[in-house]
Amino acid sequence: MKGLRVLSLFSGIGAFEEALKNINIDFKLVNYCEFDSSVSKAYSIIHNVDEKLNLGDITTIDENKLDDFDLMTYGFPCQDISALGDQKGLMDENGALTRSGLFFEAVRIAKKKLPKYLLAENVRMLVSKKFKTQFREMLKLLDEIGYNTYWQVLNSKDYGVPHSRNRVFLVSIRKDIDDGQFKFPEKIQLSKKASDFYDSFASQDHYLREKDMKYLSEFRLKKKYSSLNSDIIICQTTKQGNLANPQNFIRDKKGYRVMTSRELLALQGFKKKYAEALLNEGFTKEQIGKFSGNSITVDVLERIFEKLLHTGIKVENKILKNENII
Ligand SMILES: C[S@@+](CC[C@H](N)C(=O)[O-])C[C@H]1O[C@@H](n2cnc3c(N)ncnc32)[C@H](O)[C@@H]1O
Repeated sequence: MKGLRVLSLFSGIGAFEEALKNINIDFKLVNYCEFDSSVSKAYSIIHNVDEKLNLGDITTIDENKLDDFDLMTYGFPCQDISALGDQKGLMDENGALTRSGLFFEAVRIAKKKLPKYLLAENVRMLVSKKFKTQFREMLKLLDEIGYNTYWQVLNSKDYGVPHSRNRVFLVSIRKDIDDGQFKFPEKIQLSKKASDFYDSFASQDHYLREKDMKYLSEFRLKKKYSSLNSDIIICQTTKQGNLANPQNFIRDKKGYRVMTSRELLALQGFKKKYAEALLNEGFTKEQIGKFSGNSITVDVLERIFEKLLHTGIKVENKILKNENII
């Protein structure tokens, strides 16, 4: 696949872009789109791109003025779907769009530009019973604008990373180029433990204080909201860089500690050196923890892209074959 033009929406720190780089896809970033200025800065540092490429708030994008692209990535906000949020879904009881409803903004852009491929990621809850109707409507909408959509829940720990993180991935292929053969990647045997990602960079402010210890032992570990020295870490969240609310703890010679920015990013498939680059630019470990918790495990995306882009999609028009219809 040569010269793939990419539009990245809800870019965060750019897990999709990192995956494309890692598997040597020759791609050009047409634009990225990130509302939060500090996240945009982190994105520009990690991917070495000019922040002028950032389109900012998706609701202000004029789709008629966008350059053409072949792939649109859109890991839209999950706050209103996630088990940790208020679970209103894409719209509230009055029909007003929620933050997760920004999905429709991405569809507005796809409908006008009709790229070959769309790739989205969100929390598993999106395909639960609770959101069954809304999810069906999403698939219908993607169908109506011209795409066959394949979806599956994948867990990062099944794709080489010792991180238990279930996420739903939606791969949409424009109907005129879809041969109906897309398959999600096979699971692979996990050969690494979380401890393989640990390093010795933890400063004193990563170590739990007495009051944190009490919280850890009495509440979090017992309720299994946290894990200690686990071979496979539990799902990273946006609060994990914070001593008062982390999920994954390590016990080492100096005591109990939370994970460093390097470890957290590495357990999402990002290079450890990005943590240094961000810390050097003044980002805090709490901010980096949030970026990592909001992101997507890069290795999972690599395997999906290999299936999507390396297999050579034939020009044909076939009916959607989705083995996962709910
Ligand atoms: C779930 S995160 C996506 C993370 C990303 N896929 C990654 O690889 O790190 C959603 C992102 O959408 C951004 N966002 C929220 N509202 C937005 C808006 N109106 N326009 C553009 N970006 C927005 C958030 O700041 C957040 O970084």
